Amino acid sequence: MITFDVITIFPKLFEPFIGESLLAKGQKKKLLKIGVHDLRKWAKDKHRSVDDKPFGGGLGMVVKVDPVYRAVQKLKKKGKKSKVILFTPRGKKFDQAMAYDLSRQNQLIFICGRYEGVDERIAKHVVDMEISIGDYVLMGGEVPAMAVIEAVSRLVPGVIGKSQFLKERLQKGRKKGFLEYPQYTRPEIFEPKKNIKWKIPKVLMSGNHKEIEEWREKHRKIIL
Ligand code: ADE
Repeated sequence: MITFDVITIFPKLFEPFIGESLLAKGQKKKLLKIGVHDLRKWAKDKHRSVDDKPFGGGLGMVVKVDPVYRAVQKLKKKGKKSKVILFTPRGKKFDQAMAYDLSRQNQLIFICGRYEGVDERIAKHVVDMEISIGDYVLMGGEVPAMAVIEAVSRLVPGVIGKSQFLKERLQKGRKKGFLEYPQYTRPEIFEPKKNIKWKIPKVLMSGNHKEIEEWREKHRKIIL
């Protein structure tokens, strides 16, 4: 069982994401648990403010250190293998190898940054790891959190179909990651317009398993 605890000021963004599909099933089967927590819950002042003006001046607002600190303190389960992660474009680039590593934890606490940033003391004292999902700037860490939840969850045994899971494990054993080989299904010939035919590779109809395997190996894209 792996638990994701997401700290965000937009908890509603996660509702459809975790309530649908295999993530919902995985939660029902008690293979994973996704808790989404509104940062404002840990704001102390009467306006429930979680951001403030930057010291030294400048535009925009900065997420305050104290509500985030309190949230992490409260959510962290003692004695469990856990990682506290902050999403930021300056973080370590997320990839499949990192997804494997994270899937071995018992608890992942995600801090979704917003505004112009998060008080640097969070990165320095609270966080174990900063993750970026790519070299572009989003409006916050919510979409990155969803991407990581999805990539990690599907590596938890039982969450996705057995055949897909075993296939990937096999690939990992060979020290190669992979992005699927091209797949086709019926019809064998598709005619989008008159006199235009989109056919499938002949070898796939041959019934020759060795040749099919060779063709798939050749067309597989390695990503790790
Ligand atoms: N926050 C804003 N942009 C981001 C990115 N590319 N990755 C992770 N967190 C972010």
